Amino acid sequence: MDFANYQYEIYFQGLAGVVPELPANYDDLEARAREELDDGPFGYVAGGASSEDTVAANREAFRRWRIVPRMLVDIDVRDLSTHVLGQDLIAPVALAPVGVQSIVHPEAEVATARAAASVGIPFTLSTVSSKPLEEVAEAAGDGPRWFQLYWPGEVELAASLMRRAKDAGYTAVFVTLDTKMLAWRPRDIDGAYLPFLVGEGLANYTTDPVFTDPLDVSAEDDLQAAVLRWAQVFLNKKATWGDLASLREHTDLPMVLKGVLHPDDARRAADHGMDGIVVSNHGGRQVDGEIASLDALPDVAAAVDGELDILFDSGIRTGADVVKALGLGAKTVLLGRPYVWGLALGGEDGVRHVVRGLLADLDLTMAMSGFTSLDDLEPGILRRI
Ligand code: FNR
Repeated sequence: MDFANYQYEIYFQGLAGVVPELPANYDDLEARAREELDDGPFGYVAGGASSEDTVAANREAFRRWRIVPRMLVDIDVRDLSTHVLGQDLIAPVALAPVGVQSIVHPEAEVATARAAASVGIPFTLSTVSSKPLEEVAEAAGDGPRWFQLYWPGEVELAASLMRRAKDAGYTAVFVTLDTKMLAWRPRDIDGAYLPFLVGEGLANYTTDPVFTDPLDVSAEDDLQAAVLRWAQVFLNKKATWGDLASLREHTDLPMVLKGVLHPDDARRAADHGMDGIVVSNHGGRQVDGEIASLDALPDVAAAVDGELDILFDSGIRTGADVVKALGLGAKTVLLGRPYVWGLALGGEDGVRHVVRGLLADLDLTMAMSGFTSLDDLEPGILRRI
């Protein structure tokens, strides 16, 4: 697929006086979102844990690796397709799970799903989405989709959510491990901003029979009681490696552990029969001062030695970032904040523009570096400075 052509679509539209509504550069995109969003939603998306040192580290890590291009390679035909979690993807890019998208756009995950489906890449729906997973699946149609699970305190609830996800056509479960508690996030603290407490982001819970069963009345009639029950079951502080089997037995979908940074944990994921891991620090939103996700990747890749699929997120902003992450051992990357700004500023069209822009940038970066397939991307194409 010729993703690079997107730039000519844009230039030709320019001849008719039409220019893109959103900036192509990430920092400009975030700056525009800063102008248009209220402090609460903007801070929730942009912010991270404590000093936000790890948010910055994620991006600095990419700058320390440089691509060394090769010349006089036939780059006329390029293939960015990959095979991950037993599925064929048109490109090594999917959308990361981002909860409570209604805080930036009323169509929330429905718009995101439509955009992803129109391009043909998977999106990952968060457990704490603003729209029920069935409604989002319907919006995606035949588009590929994955479901992210925040491991709840009640295993029956996990089983029910995963069952619903499978029934609705989601083809993998991503269990997020790095969020057993919510981190100290100064931007949210300063505005006392936590959208879940006013019922935002609870759609998958309030539509779940296992969740609603113990409630005397529906969430519409008593939101406070629903929020209280949610706060009690949302996260599972006690979960350990030994409990993974209990989760595993409730779904036959491929299972991926999201938030792995230590090579020993990556090994344990492989030993526990997981299908994949996401090397991720949650975009620097959980442990301030922790290792940049990219810095963790080489050791993790060495530890699992191809036994499971490695996905990567935290800091992907450009095509070059994707090349670097794949060069260091990832098979596919998840895009996070950039598409959320696209959603905030342009709904479905905004997400599509951001995604198509990233794919064009990736295709061009690979082509002009002399790489025509993802097999070319290995550590030897990079130099650390
Ligand atoms: C997230 N992320 C996240 N992860 C997850 O497993 N479940 C979730 O519900 C959320 N929600 C969420 C909300 C917001 C506003 C952000 C920015 C992030 C983490 C996400 O999946 C991914 O790991 C990071 O976004 C990657 O970092 P960058 O590339 O966005 O900086």
